[in-house]
Amino acid sequence: MLVLGIESSCDETGVALYDTERGLVADQLHSQMAMHAEYGGVVPELASRDHIRRIRPLTNACLAEAGITLQDIDAIAFTQGPGLGGALLVGASFANALAFGLGKPVIPVHHLEGHLLSPLLAEPRPAFPFLALLVSGGHTQIMAVRGVGQYEILGETLDDAAGEAFDKTAKLLGLPYPGGPLLSKLAEEGDPARFTLPRPMLRSGDLDMSFSGLKTAVLTLSKQVEAEHGGIDEQARKDICRAFQEAIVEVLVSKCQQALKQTGMNQLVVAGGVGANKQLRAALDATAKRRKFAVYYPPLKLCTDNGAMIAFAGAMRLQQAQAAGGFTVKPRWDLS
Ligand code: KG4
Ligand code: ZN
Repeated sequence: MLVLGIESSCDETGVALYDTERGLVADQLHSQMAMHAEYGGVVPELASRDHIRRIRPLTNACLAEAGITLQDIDAIAFTQGPGLGGALLVGASFANALAFGLGKPVIPVHHLEGHLLSPLLAEPRPAFPFLALLVSGGHTQIMAVRGVGQYEILGETLDDAAGEAFDKTAKLLGLPYPGGPLLSKLAEEGDPARFTLPRPMLRSGDLDMSFSGLKTAVLTLSKQVEAEHGGIDEQARKDICRAFQEAIVEVLVSKCQQALKQTGMNQLVVAGGVGANKQLRAALDATAKRRKFAVYYPPLKLCTDNGAMIAFAGAMRLQQAQAAGGFTVKPRWDLS
């Protein structure tokens, strides 16, 4: 079964081919990051237009990469949501038109399900059931994953997502867009002992989180440093970045640990853009070793948005529906 996956929910156009026998056979991506950088964030109208420009060439590149023709495709999966309306429409229209022309089924995929299942694209693969930490720019959730389509939210952020907190804090520190990865790079050279920021909701007793207060704490700390030293030099900025990252990482790791204890599960899957964060990975790996659980990550390039995770989630859905004796596309997962 060969599934074409199309992702266009935000500022990345991703097209990929997943073969249920051979695995990922093509994976093409175009990032609009540079285009949006001069505006300091994603401009939805520009995003939609660029998806239109890229989607066909990327599809052709996928076919060439896999050495197949359109007729070889068995189904077309696309990101149905959540995301930018106009951007989503580009992928949805393209996928539906292609499916109609080829007479093949179309599979709408929940973007977060794509992220959630993406660690299954790496080896070794976790087995169901597992706990998932989904940390992206729009979502931060801890979920019990019992099977494809069987997701239970155990805890989530009450305000900003972890990636959003990274991006907003980066902006506040004067870092260029996209700030999150850059902030984390600077943090690597920062001194963890120089400043300490609060750990929001660390002891709330539940699995919910809150990150919006952290950026205010960073702002207050920056002003303090500025007043004391007459400005913020490079090292001070790195130290502030480190303090911020230390706080987020400690909260995420602690909540995951609590969730594992609560559910009795011993496998943790990390997905979403913030899952690329090196300090988060190192802290989770160290805790996993101590507490005897296993952590799984998607391959680094599949942490952020891509077509591969959509093709894969589509293939999983398709296989399930076939096993049930018919093709249905009715995701049971409502995360909004
Ligand atoms: O999953 P994703 O590509 O898009 C959403 O669906 O939101 O995640 C993007 C988010 C951004 O907020 C970005 O700043 C963050 O992931 N991110 C990082 C790192 N790489 C990406 N945050 C912290 N450290 C990183 N290395
Ligand atoms: Zn995403």
